[in-house]
Amino acid sequence: MTVVLENPVARVRWLAGPSSSQWVEQAIARPDLVLIDHAHCERKAAGVALQLMFRYPSDEELGGLLSALAREELEHFEQVLALLQRRGIPLKPLPAPAYGSSLSALVRKGEPQRMLDSFLVAGLIEARSHERMALLAAHSPDAELRELYGELLASEARHFGLYWVLCEQRFGREVTVERLEELAAAESEALRGDLPAPELVRMHSVGLA
Ligand SMILES: [Fe+2]
Ligand SMILES: [Fe+2]
Repeated sequence: MTVVLENPVARVRWLAGPSSSQWVEQAIARPDLVLIDHAHCERKAAGVALQLMFRYPSDEELGGLLSALAREELEHFEQVLALLQRRGIPLKPLPAPAYGSSLSALVRKGEPQRMLDSFLVAGLIEARSHERMALLAAHSPDAELRELYGELLASEARHFGLYWVLCEQRFGREVTVERLEELAAAESEALRGDLPAPELVRMHSVGLA
């Protein structure tokens, strides 16, 4: 089956390159793995928000926004978990692709650069999740999955919007855009290549047009 994509990058200015139709085909072929991985992604997104709250504990504005974000991500986790349970799919651990760790490695060590990079990396991951969920919402042959992804889309768009606002407020547009362009190029680079085996498909496995 060949999937023809509309160009989602036009609507998501964060991403330097769009996902490939191969990724969509691989993901549609193994909905069980993508769902399990998706549950782990939601849990990790909540973890990232909490981690940032702990790193900057006296920042009230940040605390308030990230606390709400973490709760929302945990609700998404519960939603995906419930679907897995209804389908009798166990929430087994899955080896993660190199994507997340390769992006974390780009976060600079000293402040305030560390904060800017952490927000931008978190936002990029949200933006890619949003892009790929939109593709699954449009192309999955499974109506229940189309509905799930469609429902989660709006939140994920708000999430990268939130990280954008945090960056722009604290670092200004020019500095933010400049660093975002560098990190977005690296994010796309991290998704280049061919999937070595079908069972390694993930929400953030390789597959760039
Ligand atoms: Fe989420
Ligand atoms: Fe999110």
